[in-house]
Amino acid sequence: MAIHRHDNHKSANAFMQWVDDRFPATKVWNEHLAEYWAAKNFNFWYYFGSLAILVLVIQLLTGIFLTMHYKPDAQLAFASVEYIMRDVPYGWLVRYLHSTGASMFFVVVYLHMFRGIIYGSHREPRELVWLIGCVIFVALMAEAFMGYLLPWGNMSYWGAQVIISLFDVIPYFGPILTEWIRGDFVISDATLNRFFAFHVILLPLILVALVFLHLVALHHVGSNNPDGIDIFENLDENGKPVDGVPFFPHIVIKDLIGVCGFFMVYLGIVFFWPDLGGIFLEKDNFAPANPLQTPPDIVPLWYFTPFYSILRASTETLLVFFAWSSVAIAILAAAFAKVDLKYKIGFVVVGAIAWFVFMNSSGKAWGVILMGSAIVCFFLLPWLDRSPVKSIRYRSWPFKVALTLFLIAFFILGYLGMNAPTPVKTIMAQVCTCIYFAFFILMPWFTSIGQTKPEPDRVTYDAH
Ligand code: HEM
Repeated sequence: MAIHRHDNHKSANAFMQWVDDRFPATKVWNEHLAEYWAAKNFNFWYYFGSLAILVLVIQLLTGIFLTMHYKPDAQLAFASVEYIMRDVPYGWLVRYLHSTGASMFFVVVYLHMFRGIIYGSHREPRELVWLIGCVIFVALMAEAFMGYLLPWGNMSYWGAQVIISLFDVIPYFGPILTEWIRGDFVISDATLNRFFAFHVILLPLILVALVFLHLVALHHVGSNNPDGIDIFENLDENGKPVDGVPFFPHIVIKDLIGVCGFFMVYLGIVFFWPDLGGIFLEKDNFAPANPLQTPPDIVPLWYFTPFYSILRASTETLLVFFAWSSVAIAILAAAFAKVDLKYKIGFVVVGAIAWFVFMNSSGKAWGVILMGSAIVCFFLLPWLDRSPVKSIRYRSWPFKVALTLFLIAFFILGYLGMNAPTPVKTIMAQVCTCIYFAFFILMPWFTSIGQTKPEPDRVTYDAH
């Protein structure tokens, strides 16, 4: 399907030739679609990149139509959303497509990130693809957080109140910063206006630009595949990878199957269960913002809850546990490590400093630090992973065990974050927080032990 205009000059479309002389349309088409070689064994997990683009486009389009009827004004916002739902022709559809689209965006992106981890797509030479992806993830969280204030429901109001006040923990500048972000002493009309501007203009622009960079970086190094091997090491006599197929039409057709599956789930939710029992649209947000009435449990939407759980897990008791654990680890290291005396003394001093810091800081401050670090960990993944092979198909069992434990902890954290804390749930969140961080901290170790399986020379492909 590649277009080579110089080969068939006579029949070449004169108009396209005119364009190509002035703009690299055919060149871009060939380089990025018709002659972009992707492995022929792309599987289910490879649907989610193109689906992420699809959801981004859906969000942009539905967002434009919502903006035509929405009023960014604390007095009018809630009512304008009700007006969209009841009076604007098909307004309910546009709004549910957008609210469900937000959750589906995170479903798709989480699965897309998971694919990266299981097939080692974050590893060399795709570190920048991964890093740009991580920045996209942060931008997406900011976009969703700001969008959530716009309906001006009671959970919008109190959710924003809780999250913005987290900046208070920054020494000295905290209170000034929170006031600057809100534009007021409390969440108010000024906050709503600026969040609206960021949500409809700034962050969508940033997201589109980042996705472009993500793809430029990917196409510079080429796509990975479920076997994690380099398809460019096996070329045919024409210099084309024997295990590769042109992205257009092969992968595009394959991706359309994913698009059909996606629409079945997405539209099923939009038409039959748009609030998903309070998970996609929270019950407290069906009441207008009321600064005098705090909802019984302030909880964010599901996609933030693993991180919200980590924030809440940081209690004074956890810090006492961290303090004494630091001392215990330092003493054990000093007693058993085969190093010079000066290093042993160093271990004890570091342990004592850690004890002092943990015993003298607040749970809230550490909650914010832990929550931020939980996201930063993803940025470090390419350098924490030391496995000699990329794909989970050939990795050693310690990696598989660690990944399973991490996933279980991530889901439990997500579940706990949707519910009010109890003493038992707090302890569960603390255990899962420790597992979460242990996954990243211990990764250089568990990825370098155990027996890996030999990688194949050719991709694993069953032609049916
Ligand atoms: C708006 C959000 C995003 C969009 C639209 C997007 C789009 C894409 C597309 C179209 C591809 C190529 C197709 C594929 O391999 O599935 C891709 C690949 C990739 N993306 Fe994303 N992405 C997004 C977010 C992320 C995030 C959050 C991460 C990680 C933190 C990430 C990491 C990667 C990696 C590592 C690859 C290469 C995969 C491989 O070759 O195996 N992306 N992305």
